[in-house]
Amino acid sequence: MDTIHIRGGRRLSGSIPISGAKNAALPLMTAALLTAEPVKFTNVPALTDVRSLAKLLGVLGSSVERNGDSVTISTPEITSTTAPYEIVSQFRASFWVLGPLVARCREAKVSLPGGCAIGARPVDLYIKGLQKMGAEIDLVEGYVLAKAPDGLKGTVIRSPIVSVGVTHTLMMAATLADGETILENAAREPEVSDLAHCLVSMGAKIEGIGTSTLRIEGVEKLKGTTHRVIADRIEAGTYAIAAAMTGGEVTLEGVEAETFDAALSVLRAAGAGVDVQQGQVRIFRNGERLQATNVVTQVFPGFPTDLQAQFMALMTTADGESEITETIFENRFMHVQELARFGADISLHGDKALVRGVEKLKAAPVMASDLRASAALIVAALAAEGETTINRVYHLDRGFERMEEKLGACGAEIWRAKAS
Ligand code: EPZ
Repeated sequence: MDTIHIRGGRRLSGSIPISGAKNAALPLMTAALLTAEPVKFTNVPALTDVRSLAKLLGVLGSSVERNGDSVTISTPEITSTTAPYEIVSQFRASFWVLGPLVARCREAKVSLPGGCAIGARPVDLYIKGLQKMGAEIDLVEGYVLAKAPDGLKGTVIRSPIVSVGVTHTLMMAATLADGETILENAAREPEVSDLAHCLVSMGAKIEGIGTSTLRIEGVEKLKGTTHRVIADRIEAGTYAIAAAMTGGEVTLEGVEAETFDAALSVLRAAGAGVDVQQGQVRIFRNGERLQATNVVTQVFPGFPTDLQAQFMALMTTADGESEITETIFENRFMHVQELARFGADISLHGDKALVRGVEKLKAAPVMASDLRASAALIVAALAAEGETTINRVYHLDRGFERMEEKLGACGAEIWRAKAS
């Protein structure tokens, strides 16, 4: 397995181009299953999860062609409605083919999902939502079997909690349903809006985009389109945190500040400089130690759970004690024990982590446990004294495009040792 090595202590300085968002690209690619015509996406990041989803779409009958940062998906016919365990167990977004398959083929057999080990991550709300739309659902040998012989029907679905994946899935399913579907308490994450905008350009009728009530009037069929994937706010937030951690100055290019405003506000509160321009954000810290700052993860527009680990890494060297509360996933603190290897002082109390800032971190061999936890280890290693080795970096390759190259261009001493 590859390892990443970082000799810490270099200030980051320069520009980082932000890639297309993984968490937008994945649901968008599943949406291509809704039409027989080709759908072209641009600004698609080259990541393991994107390649794995392309493989799954191939199994279902799509042809998927990559050309630079574009991916074109054509599915004149769906040749199989089974999404196999071998692929779906690798990453959660693959489960989202469920909605488009039932909508277009009136049946689907999709393995229960896998993905990052950050909590129980049930699928009850997907099932209840599709049942409410008229699908019959059985769970057989680890697969969700969904059938809607007469097609899906529009209805009102109020989700008891805000879920990104459930909103993606039910919104896609509703585009081809009979009548109007109203999704209440829908997720408002920018990736949900990106999917909605793409569906509209495919001919879907959706109102309330960006709000917590989505109204979708089903249509007979959808058509092909070309759609640019939005920039990755989590990648941007990670590099903003890395810049603050190393006391450097970094300009994030190609990302809109409003997509990660909550993170920028917290960085400001901690004492980092944030300068927002259209399509770019500059982060800087000159000399001063950061102040400990509390954070509570929340659904959008709150502070994103996908930046919680990286922010915790930042707080390990801040002045004072910070309390970090995770409200989205019940087990998303796997990075705590790895951050302790750098000398961080963190204690866990249920859904809260109490971080007591130390003067300096020291390099250590560490192991990535999930995607965003790996990013937290990178943040810590960039500031730690000595050379850190990060193991299990395949987690990182699922979500960060050309990370060593981007950080290296800003002066980080970072390199990858390829597995022999
Ligand atoms: C998406 O996951 C993202 N994944 C996650 O990013 C992100 O952390 C999460 O949204 C929250 O923003 C992708 O976009 C591929 P949820 P998702 O359903 O949709 C509970 C990353 O690192 N729930 O919004 O799976 C669930 O357990 C990943 O890129 C149910 O109880 O998250 C959680 O507590 C990690 N029943 C809460 O909802 C259900 O049926 C919110 O999760 C579904 C969800």
